[in-house]
Amino acid sequence: MCGIVGYVGPRDATPIILNGLKRLEYRGYDSAGVAVFNGGQIEVRRDAGKLSQLVDLVGKSPINGAPGIGHTRWATHGAPTTRNAHPHLGSSGRVVVVQNGIVENFLELKDELTAEGVVFQSETDTETIVQLVEHYLAAGMGFVEAARKTFNQIQGANVVVLMSADEPEKIVAARIGNAGGVVIGLGEGENFLASDTPAIMEHTRKVIFLESRQMTIVSRENVRVETLDGAEIKPQVHTVSWDPVAAERGEYRHFMQKEIHEQVRALTDTLAGRVDFGKGEIRLPDLKLTKELANRIEKIYITACGTAAYAGMVGKYLIEKIARVPVEVVIGSEFRYSDPIVTPNTVVLAISQSGETADTLAAMEEGRRKGGILWSIVNAIGSQAMRVADGYISMQTGPEIGVASTKAFTAPLVDQYMLAILLAGLRGVIDDKTRRSLVADLRLVPDLAGRALDTEADVEKVAHALKDIRGCLYLGRGINMPIAYEGALKLKEISYIHAEGYPAGEMKHGPIALIDEEMPVLCLAPKDPWHEKMISQIQQAKARGGVVIAVATEGDELIQGMADHVLWVPEAPWMLSPIVTVLPLQLLAYHIATIRGLDVDQPRNLAKSVTVE
Ligand code: AGP
Repeated sequence: MCGIVGYVGPRDATPIILNGLKRLEYRGYDSAGVAVFNGGQIEVRRDAGKLSQLVDLVGKSPINGAPGIGHTRWATHGAPTTRNAHPHLGSSGRVVVVQNGIVENFLELKDELTAEGVVFQSETDTETIVQLVEHYLAAGMGFVEAARKTFNQIQGANVVVLMSADEPEKIVAARIGNAGGVVIGLGEGENFLASDTPAIMEHTRKVIFLESRQMTIVSRENVRVETLDGAEIKPQVHTVSWDPVAAERGEYRHFMQKEIHEQVRALTDTLAGRVDFGKGEIRLPDLKLTKELANRIEKIYITACGTAAYAGMVGKYLIEKIARVPVEVVIGSEFRYSDPIVTPNTVVLAISQSGETADTLAAMEEGRRKGGILWSIVNAIGSQAMRVADGYISMQTGPEIGVASTKAFTAPLVDQYMLAILLAGLRGVIDDKTRRSLVADLRLVPDLAGRALDTEADVEKVAHALKDIRGCLYLGRGINMPIAYEGALKLKEISYIHAEGYPAGEMKHGPIALIDEEMPVLCLAPKDPWHEKMISQIQQAKARGGVVIAVATEGDELIQGMADHVLWVPEAPWMLSPIVTVLPLQLLAYHIATIRGLDVDQPRNLAKSVTVE
């Protein structure tokens, strides 16, 4: 999870920035850096590795001055090296940038700038931003105008923070989509900027939260907020609690709501350092997957519990479709009792946010006992499921506090998609063109998720309509069938309303008897290969007087005319559609539970990690 801290004021920026980054470092990162304005120029210190290494570097080679900006980073483009660490200076050395997110069109922009003679120093998409700002400054624009033009030209969900040595009295920042927050801290004769409130709460409790597609110009005495078109906005000033937990929630009422919205940044981070968009390649070094191993794997068991198991059910579709390796999903608490057939060419892949779920660990032990290969997809660094595995993929989403899992559901969907591509390439079952196309689709993920989350207000209206229901059926087909299970679980575990996920095709074999005016039916009907089948499913439910809530692709007028409520999602490549279809279901469960006044972050009877069998 990337962290950003900025400072404009009379004090030395360096210690303020380093201390602020320290408060964000539990999110995980692999490089850090700081830039300050001093004596007419911008000085940068940055290093791969932990913040302590940057602090040592600054100790040996001090930089003082203000304003300043600092950054901790998961490497998204380019390996976590000093050369790729933020902040990045433009060729002139007069402008510096830090960024969270993915610039989806960076390759095109980089080609255009290279053709104009710009020499890039790094492999990052971030450098493209600062070179573009310098391009517009060279064309005669002022710093703010050049920044605004750049913000409007880059595509994808991003947070961008810029400083210029030619206009050193200000920091300019923008939030485009939902790639993380921008918090502006209001001080006396000084102002602060950060990606999360805890970084600056020792200095001020008065903050402004930047909204998506807004930019800000922060100077000592003034904070101006604008739309990306330049129209001034009068933002609301919030007073945050000194309670660090409340401060950590920032602009959100609950950790679950924050983590639902954090998924754009979490999805960006789970891609971090693993995708070479230029070459169309995936790198998962911690999985230790060699060509020899890839070609002798005969079967993969995916074993997990609860939400993680439903993520595995999506993974089955992805790995079988892309890598053509047989996959069987077995619930963690059942695996060791099923006497599974495991050979030295069988992989047992465990998925676990906590990495400490007893049933999942027991399944891994059974896989080990039978001589299988153990892999895991885990969020908690250093957890048991990570340590005992022969190879692993870290979800890299940062800590998940809410008991109901959200970002630790969508991140493994991307991780399994990447695993499938890597496996397929090593087994030679996909050609170069197919692989490049599958990899290119990953660039869309953060922004698609952000657009799906932008519908929260509409979802909340549907939640009000459903707040008194006593049960709900969730129906899905194909790759979205597991989303029916996951959506039902979200509703059950935080609103205590009974809900049941079901393969839509199974309804006619009995459960359709349940449908009447009292039993609403939620149908997952995005534009995927099963769309037509879901249309008839909606018709069957309506014919029995059922209230239908449909998850549909934006613009699907056919479904709009049939369903009682529609939760809209952006069109996505079908193998990535579960990432967007699950988001309104997370929001729906969250808002129904909130309307019912329930403890969303710590639902009754539940623990975040079930370490007992
Ligand atoms: C999901 O919202 C629940 N909190 C629960 O089903 C959870 O997914 C399950 O207990 C597995 O936890 P893990 O991912 O930490 O192994």
